Amino acid sequence: MRTIKIGNQSLEIPLIQGGMGIGVSRCQLAGAVAREGGMGVISTAQIGYDREGFARHPEETNLAEIPEQIKKARQIAQGHGMIAVNIMAVTQRYGEYVKQACEAGVDAIITGAGLPTTLPQYVKGYDTKIAPIVSSEKALNVILGYWDRKYSRTADFVVIEGPKAGGHLGFSFETLADLPAYDFDAEVRAIVLAKKKYEETYERQIPIFLAGGIFHHQDVQHALALGADGVQAATRFVATVECDASEEYKQSYIRAREEDVVIIHSPVGMPGRAIRNAFIDRMQAGKEKITGCYNCLKACNPKTAAYCISQALINAVKGDVDNGLLFCGARVGEINRIVTVKEVIRELQPGWSV
Ligand SMILES: Cc1cc2nc3c(=O)[nH]c(=O)nc-3n(C[C@H](O)[C@H](O)[C@H](O)COP(=O)(O)O)c2cc1C
Repeated sequence: MRTIKIGNQSLEIPLIQGGMGIGVSRCQLAGAVAREGGMGVISTAQIGYDREGFARHPEETNLAEIPEQIKKARQIAQGHGMIAVNIMAVTQRYGEYVKQACEAGVDAIITGAGLPTTLPQYVKGYDTKIAPIVSSEKALNVILGYWDRKYSRTADFVVIEGPKAGGHLGFSFETLADLPAYDFDAEVRAIVLAKKKYEETYERQIPIFLAGGIFHHQDVQHALALGADGVQAATRFVATVECDASEEYKQSYIRAREEDVVIIHSPVGMPGRAIRNAFIDRMQAGKEKITGCYNCLKACNPKTAAYCISQALINAVKGDVDNGLLFCGARVGEINRIVTVKEVIRELQPGWSV
């Protein structure tokens, strides 16, 4: 077994289940992954979307739901693994979300979709681990360099997210349009090398988890050969019994073929990867009338956005897939049935056991 030390905690298996908003990874999925010894991640993006009062007070409802989801995930995990939350850097009231999760005793905060420059200030005084999601050596140095200068602190672990990942992507449209031409492995090696400087300064290990297209144990072996300590997988966990999304959402994953995967312009200003469906066809034909705003993302302007991303993701997770945005990783076409979390992990296991 390949146990990983993360600060004063240890992870029985070197696997993180990537955070998936809105509502795709909540307590059921995160708890099931932790129960197997991995790190289960709850996405805080509109985490209270199906709760009483959400329409009138989305932010307060979300903040109240964070401890509930962490508590339930812990019950499911039965003392195994770790429970983390994924809080996007572009979240309005980001600091309050972080503090709420820390108060609830979450093990770790993982932040992508922007630069989490202020994260250390919100976890001060808590024993909560922190990790940025980066896609380049430059981003790693910007974040860890800033944390070092401003807070005298470094990351407890790092997630590297590659161009095959799902959701928002930290790459240009040009790079994503021609993936074979891009040597991402070289970038991973550079990031692994760059983090050593911070390990030396802080005299501690900073484990690296590689994400994006992790589907089989051969992908885990490849990640470890590049110098990663473990992996983060997300798409692979959607078509599971335990995933928190609706049955229709899971069936869309099973139906999707490689050629159905498209890169879209997210209202957040970043590219995103999703399954082409009636909703995407309509959005590409013209802007949708936005009737309400959840005021959820710093980078989104409802006056100019082509659609409300929160509404589209909520429709999808609830099962109204023709009116919803279905984020997915590049390899979604390889999924053809619903399995259990245990089965997914059993498939990945030989990657770290050899
Ligand atoms: C449906 C879906 C939703 C996602 N939502 C988020 C999110 O809210 N925040 C985030 O940082 N990453 C998000 N991601 C990215 C994943 O956490 C993960 O890093 C990535 O998808 C890994 O690649 P894989 O899906 O090929 O395993 C999402 C991915 C998917 C598939």
